[in-house]
Amino acid sequence: MTATLTRRTVRRRALIAAFAAGATLLTSGFVTGPTAAPKVAAAPDIPLANLTGHLNQFQSIATANGGNRAHGRPGYRASLDYVKAKLDAAGYTTSIRTFTSGGRAGYNLIADWPGGDPNQVIMAGAHLDSVTAGAGINDNATGSAAVLETALAVSRAQFRPTKHLRFAWWGAEELGLVGSRNYVNGLSAADRTRIKGYLNLDMVGSPNPGYFVYDDDPVIEQTFKGYFAGLGVPTEIETEGDGRSDHAPFKNVGIPVGGLFTGAGYVKSAAQAAKWGGTSGVAFDRCYHRACDTTANVSTTALDRNSDALAHTLWTLSS
Ligand code: TRP
Ligand code: CA
Ligand code: ZN
Repeated sequence: MTATLTRRTVRRRALIAAFAAGATLLTSGFVTGPTAAPKVAAAPDIPLANLTGHLNQFQSIATANGGNRAHGRPGYRASLDYVKAKLDAAGYTTSIRTFTSGGRAGYNLIADWPGGDPNQVIMAGAHLDSVTAGAGINDNATGSAAVLETALAVSRAQFRPTKHLRFAWWGAEELGLVGSRNYVNGLSAADRTRIKGYLNLDMVGSPNPGYFVYDDDPVIEQTFKGYFAGLGVPTEIETEGDGRSDHAPFKNVGIPVGGLFTGAGYVKSAAQAAKWGGTSGVAFDRCYHRACDTTANVSTTALDRNSDALAHTLWTLSS
């Protein structure tokens, strides 16, 4: 009995010492040395105040430009210039890719974080245009802000992942995924195979939110789901129209995709309200594609959680 206790104590002390040295306890019960543990730096917490700061800027841009940020309108280009300036100041290599849709010039913004394996690229993107009816704050200033703030967090952390990171803000999504399709069509076959994952955020701050994860690439899906499980927030598979956002052109050429969504015109059920809160019998976003999609039309809790989930997934997949 005494001998058993002593052995236990010794083993526990060894475990504590090993953990203090940065070791990992495997499920088998073996302790591996610090060099054997895969080192994945924890993603930072994306500050909500920074996210809402970007939403306020997009709202001001719309207000100063006829009330929208739509393709071919001055509010779109002003939105793009705002995002580009932040990325340039943070050390990104940015480029504006011009296309034409409906007789008007459209623009994608691509931002590359210098370094990483150019043959293994992880991308995250969001559409930056609104419909003409309104400012498009939930749809999709929220996704645009989440992707922007994650990119800025990469710079603040001076994150040096194994893979190469690329961020994108798409034009003319509301006209039928025009910008993202233009980008994918312009990739060579070799460039396509270099992109190992594309993460899409379109509407991630719906005012009566659900927590929906795209049911596409299983590794991307599980990485997103793992983050929400850690928060204790249940998720569901996204079903409100598969292929209705900018991941579709990537998926169509065989690139692994995933993404997050908090709901548009579908109505929250009683079961969903029971697990997520909010109001059953009401749309996830009753202002979807309407003039009332302003900064008043956002769940900041949903925006914060989805942005943190994006940072976690990007860090994990690119390390
Ligand atoms: N911008 C998309 C649209 O207007 C919003 C949307 C609807 C969506 N259903 C979706 C985005 C499902 C992602 C997944 O169609
Ligand atoms: Ca956060
Ligand atoms: Zn939309």
